[in-house]
Amino acid sequence: MGADSLFVGQRIMRLDQVDSTNSFAMGILKGMPVEEGVVITTAKQTRGRGQRGNTWESEPGKNITCSIILKPTFLDPSLQFDLTRAASLALSDVIADLLPERDIRIKWPNDIYVDGKKIAGILIENVLISNRINYAVVGIGLNVNQTEFSASGTGATSLKLLGQVEFDLNNLLRMICAAVEVRYLQLRAGKTEQLRAEYFNRLFMANIVTRYTDFTKVFDAKILEVTKEGFLVLELTDGSLRRFAMKEVGWVGVTQ
Ligand code: BTN
Repeated sequence: MGADSLFVGQRIMRLDQVDSTNSFAMGILKGMPVEEGVVITTAKQTRGRGQRGNTWESEPGKNITCSIILKPTFLDPSLQFDLTRAASLALSDVIADLLPERDIRIKWPNDIYVDGKKIAGILIENVLISNRINYAVVGIGLNVNQTEFSASGTGATSLKLLGQVEFDLNNLLRMICAAVEVRYLQLRAGKTEQLRAEYFNRLFMANIVTRYTDFTKVFDAKILEVTKEGFLVLELTDGSLRRFAMKEVGWVGVTQ
């Protein structure tokens, strides 16, 4: 392991089972310094965590569930969404490489969709010390060889469902480490505008009028921009603009 990357994935902790690789990573960071690029991966999470307090379900042994420890001390905490962009681009780069015929999109803020179905999710947790990001734990869940999803996972898909072949999990983890390193180094080199532009170009439903909800009513709108801090700006069909943080808006579907 490691030929494709300089530091991400040079050390991999492989756990048979853990509550959550993100929780485990956050736990060790409390107790000791950890070098940048360490990866924690497991075959089975018993309490996998998703965005917005959701759980992340993943059939044991079939998928990628890992956490990558980074030290983006150069990144202003107010611009931490740029790391979300870098991670989303990295994961979508890998999936696009494997499924070149498919339409790979990032659904704001950081879900990866293929042909309209969710294949991967990212959960980033930061350790802040005196207004600096001392560590970021980039948790990645990618559906790989799982072919059946629970009723709550009906909009989900996997690499195997799309590619009709079984994928090697070690190989995939190596690809993810290499891709995260490439995008992270772009971020560290200050190529922020490029990352922002590429992120926007890959967004799911950008420039298409679809139905959203602010959880009090539904409305039709299209994505106008994602601000540098990561807010979603929607243009409603009456021409007005509204700005949303992550938990404030939901996507309902394509307008008929
Ligand atoms: C989401 O789409 O809601 C984000 C899902 C993130 C899941 C991954 S699996 C590895 C890591 N450990 C966790 O507990 N969550 C992330």
